[in-house]
Amino acid sequence: MALIAPSILSADFASLGAQAAAVARGGARLLHVDVMDGQFVPNLTLGPPVVKSLNAATDLFLDCHLMVQEPDRVIPLFLAAGADGISVHIEAVRHLHRTVQLIRDGGARTGVALNPATSLGHLEDILPEIDFVLLMSVNPGFPGQKFIPQVMEKVRRLAGMVAERRLETVIEVDGGVGAGNAHDLAAAGAGLLVAGSAVFGQSDPEDAARRLTALTAAAGPDPGWIP
Ligand code: DX5
Ligand code: ZN
Repeated sequence: MALIAPSILSADFASLGAQAAAVARGGARLLHVDVMDGQFVPNLTLGPPVVKSLNAATDLFLDCHLMVQEPDRVIPLFLAAGADGISVHIEAVRHLHRTVQLIRDGGARTGVALNPATSLGHLEDILPEIDFVLLMSVNPGFPGQKFIPQVMEKVRRLAGMVAERRLETVIEVDGGVGAGNAHDLAAAGAGLLVAGSAVFGQSDPEDAARRLTALTAAAGPDPGWIP
């Protein structure tokens, strides 16, 4: 079954601990943490101190999505803060293989994120080295944007690449995911579905998490390494 990753970008930052507990009750096993530096994307969000506090407040897997330029500078800080998984943007990294080693050597699950216009071909040589690929289905920077429909087919193509090479790389989809497309994305091969507005943007995030989890329960691969 595919898993829902509620994105705290849409949560109330004044009560993150309580919000994490609510989605955990709703069946979520991870939290998606959107880190933005104001350079790679035109928005600023949060940094390692928030991840450290979340790590103390919840047992949920902390899936840190670094939308930052040259992430090598800050990866050690996120590892020390308790990040369980870290994804970096292929468009923001000069020496991807080195960056991936840095994350893996720090003991976190390793992901590479691709913007909507970035071709899957760029994954060719790095795919066997990573745990997951994050496919952006909106242009990164803001919650509440509309899902770019072409990404559904991109998920299928990536699932094909992964299967052909007999890998177990998990596919994560991020942006504009909700009740209308979650099941189809899981069926196309996504194992992790990020949902911001569709969970924390709702009046009852616990219930929203529970409903989305139920929608994907019967479809998609199970990312076994998430406790
Ligand atoms: C966008 C972020 C997403 C965002 C998703 O740049 O990477 O994780 O929080 O928000 P929704 O689900 O509202 O599109
Ligand atoms: Zn994200």
